[in-house]
Amino acid sequence: MLSGEELTFAPPGVLGGVFGNAGRVDFCVDLVRVGRPVGDGDADEAQRDAGVVGDLVVDVVTDAEGEGTGAIVEDDQQLVKFHGMYLQDDRDLRPERTRKKMEKAFAFMIRVRVPGGVLSPAQWLALDQVARDYGNHTMRLTTRQTVQLHGIIKSNLKATLKEIDAALLNSIAACGDVNRNVMCGANPEQGPAHAAALELARKVSDHLTPQTPAYREIWLDGERIAGGEDNVVEPIYGKTYLPRKFKIVAAVPPSNDVDVFAHDLGFIAVLDDKGGVTGWNVTVGGGMGMTHGEEDTYPRTADLMGFCATKDAVAIAEAVVTVQRDWGDRLNRKHARLKYTIEDRGLDFFRAEVVRRAKVVLEPAKPFKFTSTGDRYGWSQAADGRSHLTLFVQNGRLFDHASAKQLSALRQIAQSHDGNFRITPNQNLIVANIPIERQTEIHWIAKEAGLLAPWSGLRRNSMACVALPTCGLALAESERYLPDLMTALDESLAAHGLSSDDIVIRMTGCPNGCARPYLAEIGLVGKGPGRYNLYLGAAFDGSRLSKLYAEDLDHGAIVAALDPVFAAYAAELQKGERFGDFTIRAGFVAATGNGRDFHANVAKQAARAAR
Ligand code: HEM
Ligand code: SF4
Repeated sequence: MLSGEELTFAPPGVLGGVFGNAGRVDFCVDLVRVGRPVGDGDADEAQRDAGVVGDLVVDVVTDAEGEGTGAIVEDDQQLVKFHGMYLQDDRDLRPERTRKKMEKAFAFMIRVRVPGGVLSPAQWLALDQVARDYGNHTMRLTTRQTVQLHGIIKSNLKATLKEIDAALLNSIAACGDVNRNVMCGANPEQGPAHAAALELARKVSDHLTPQTPAYREIWLDGERIAGGEDNVVEPIYGKTYLPRKFKIVAAVPPSNDVDVFAHDLGFIAVLDDKGGVTGWNVTVGGGMGMTHGEEDTYPRTADLMGFCATKDAVAIAEAVVTVQRDWGDRLNRKHARLKYTIEDRGLDFFRAEVVRRAKVVLEPAKPFKFTSTGDRYGWSQAADGRSHLTLFVQNGRLFDHASAKQLSALRQIAQSHDGNFRITPNQNLIVANIPIERQTEIHWIAKEAGLLAPWSGLRRNSMACVALPTCGLALAESERYLPDLMTALDESLAAHGLSSDDIVIRMTGCPNGCARPYLAEIGLVGKGPGRYNLYLGAAFDGSRLSKLYAEDLDHGAIVAALDPVFAAYAAELQKGERFGDFTIRAGFVAATGNGRDFHANVAKQAARAAR
């Protein structure tokens, strides 16, 4: 049972579910966040024992068939995240509905689990159909190689998840305090190395997927197992899951498209002369999220922890996850990611604990070199004579708009495609393994739909998170605004002769950082309606964080702040020098060393910005 002390530590909304739904046991996930100060030692057992089965009934199932609200109770909102969905409302409609005393326009976002971002044409078609039948007629390719479907009303949830299941996909653990979608480098040209990265991503994903049958029972009308959920032991997550979400990627140099340093755990392929993988450098402790005005929250680039053989990689992944499970901060969600565990305890402690648990040897990290985080657009040749076409999907949003029917174009391609689709970590899409006889046709379909890469070097390297109107955390626009901002910035770049220069720009509607803005050469982070903080100085290869350059800028102020920086870059850049590196050399911003350094030395640059 819960003690009073444990109750004190539990965040509101989660424990409420235990009591609020007492007696109902359709869906039980042990999410009791038992408070335990960092430094309690190896407390796994105590922690598990202290966990109480949260009788977490998702009212969705019953309510969906009944009348009443389009929402679900707060406790269940937390819990359905573990099944890959968020309750949201259309924030554009809030004022009008409030005036009319109507409930908010509630709908769900479902995030599908797609390890490595690889989908078969049949799976693509299934998601397309679900988006049309139950969603808002859009598919959103995400920065973590998944698909999000928006606008699904409560009564359609089960039907949606059944159709997704029929396509051999699911949304288990796509959100929540658990290992999320595992990503891998998307560049199909890399042949054997990419295949190895995909295989690793899939193995790690399978190994770390929760075993609970609750998903099947609730959404797919599966049989309840004898004895109920109480007897299901999660071998890795125990009863308390993780202190916070957990993100894993596998990168294949020279491409750092997955942004390996932004993730809790990363595997970087070490290649031999023939392009084969000899093993993996392991990185730990990357993460993006922070809170405006709270300097003890910060983005952090991951540390290199060592090198492991391929056969040991899954064991390493499990050990990293369980060390974080046991040592991560469960008292303060803003300090609960692995990045803070490593900052607090040190990399040496963490490595020793991982090695002890995994019972494998971690050798010193081996040399590697990344060159960029972007996608290589256009056609490329596979080893077997087939070809791949990397398409540009603006901010990952696919829909049929008046001038370009992008969703329909991709459906047309999928209907007769015998290769596959690969979602890139940059919200783009690769149509992979196209036989020579279909190349012209597919090229023209894509061109007609506006899916070929644009000329602007800035736009080719852009990403924006969803933000308004669906994301409840958005402080400012992102996906709907970045294209217009780039049009203005492109004018400025053109004036300085920089139109085709590759410059990475990313925007998010709040500091959580879903589009990894702190690793962009130009990062814009929502501060309030129409206002953004501007960050500069990140490395083009994703290895260095940016630094705050100017605060609280509106559209005009962003353009005005960047124009002189572009002018200086055009005038002073040295051969091969990247924009992010230049902004440091030229003194616009100080270089950020690592997480704790992120908020340091900002005043100096703010003064420069004001000049
Ligand atoms: C730290 C706190 C964070 C919270 C509370 C949070 C919450 C959310 C929410 C509510 C959405 C749904 C938006 C919508 O579809 O309407 C979302 C989207 C997303 N988030 Fe986060 N997020 C956080 C950080 C991150 C970070 C650091 C990453 C990646 C490194 C990330 C990756 C994503 C992705 C890939 C999406 C889908 C949309 C896109 O591609 O932009 N999130 N997040
Ligand atoms: S960065 Fe903020 S606004 Fe953007 S999707 Fe993530 S949580 Fe929402």
